[in-house]
Amino acid sequence: MSVGLLGLGAYLPERIMTNAEWAEYVDTSDEWITSRTGIHRRRVAAADQNTADLAVAAAEQAIADSGLTVADIDEIIVATDTPEVYIPDTASFVQTRLGAREVPAYDLGGSGCAGFVLGLDIARSRALANDRRVLVIGVELLTRLMNWQDRNTCVLFGDAAGAAVVGAGPGMAEILAANAGTDGTRSDILGLEVGGTRMPFTEERARQGLHKEIVMHGREVFREAVRRMTAASMDVLEQAGVGIEDVALVVPHQANQRILDAVGDRLGVPPEKVFVNVHEYGNTGSASVPVALWEARAQGRIQPGDLVLLTAFGAGFHWAALLVRF
Ligand code: ACO
Repeated sequence: MSVGLLGLGAYLPERIMTNAEWAEYVDTSDEWITSRTGIHRRRVAAADQNTADLAVAAAEQAIADSGLTVADIDEIIVATDTPEVYIPDTASFVQTRLGAREVPAYDLGGSGCAGFVLGLDIARSRALANDRRVLVIGVELLTRLMNWQDRNTCVLFGDAAGAAVVGAGPGMAEILAANAGTDGTRSDILGLEVGGTRMPFTEERARQGLHKEIVMHGREVFREAVRRMTAASMDVLEQAGVGIEDVALVVPHQANQRILDAVGDRLGVPPEKVFVNVHEYGNTGSASVPVALWEARAQGRIQPGDLVLLTAFGAGFHWAALLVRF
C-alpha cells in the first residue's frame, strides 16, 4: 500500500511588516536584516486571530484540495510552538472549529521548525497501519510570543499556517521515504525557558519580559541546521535509491537565505532547484515547509513525476526529511 499527500493548503495573514518597520522597535536596519538573513518582509496576524484560526484556514484549503470533506478526516496533528493556550492543545480547538468528527487530535508541541515534516512521517505510519486520512498542520503565531525588543531574534520570525492531508494511495504526491531524529544534548542552544516547571511564570519574570525571551545561539543553530538538514536529506535519497540529481526541487525549512544556500551547496544542487520564499515571510517555524511546498506548486515549480525533497530543522534539536514523488 502506498501513502501520499492528498492535498495542500496555506494561510498567510494579511498584514505585511517590512524590515524598515522593525527599525522603529529595535536598533536594526533593512540592510542588516537583508544581508544576514535574506528576509525583506513577514506577515503578522491580526489582534483578533489566534493560532487555531490560522490553522483552520490552511486546513480547510488542504481538505478542499484533496477533494474530500472534513467528515473524511480521521486524525489531526498540529505542529506548533505557539499554541492557542497552554492546556488544552491547539488540536482541540482545530477539531471543533473545523467541525471534524470526534477523531484523535493532538499537538506536536515544542518540536521546533521540524514539527510539520515529523508530523507527515507520523501521519504516514498512521495511514499505513489504520488506513486513516490524517490532517497535518504546521502553524505559528511567533510575532505574538516573541520579545519585540530583542533584535537578535525578533526580526527573523513571521506568522503563517500550512497543511496537508495524508492518506492511502499516491494522491498528488506519494511519500517514498522519511527520516527524523533528535539530539537533546543541544537543547540549551535554542529555546524558551520561562513558563515551564523549571522556571515557572512569575510576575517578576514577566516584568522582565523573560517569558518571551527566546534563547538562540545563532551561529551554532546555523551550523547544526545545515549539517542536520543535509544529512537527513541524504538519508532519504539513499532509502529511496535515488541520487540528488534525480530531485527536481528541494523545499527546505525557510530559516534564512544563507542556511538555504549552504544546504543547497552541501547537497550539490544548483540554486534554482532550492525553493526560497523566506524573503517574503521570514522564518515561520513549523509552517514554513508546508507554506513553501504549497507555494512552489502554485507557482508551477512542481510538475507531475517530479521528485521533491522536504527537509527541516529546529529546537530540540529535531530534524526531519521526506522524499515525495508528484
Ligand atoms: N540588527 C542589527 N544588528 C544586529 C541584529 C539586528 N537585527 N541582530 C543582531 N545584531 C548584532 C548583534 O548584536 C551582534 O553585534 P555585536 O557583534 O556588536 O555583539 C552582531 O549583530 C552579530 O553579527 P554577526 O555575528 O555578523 O551575525 P551573524 O552573521 O552570525 O548573523 C544570525 C546572525 C542571522 C542570527 C545568524 O547567526 C543566523 O542566521 N543563525 C541561524 C539562526 C536561525 O535561523 N534561527 C531561527 C530559529 S532556528 C531555525 O529556524 C533553524
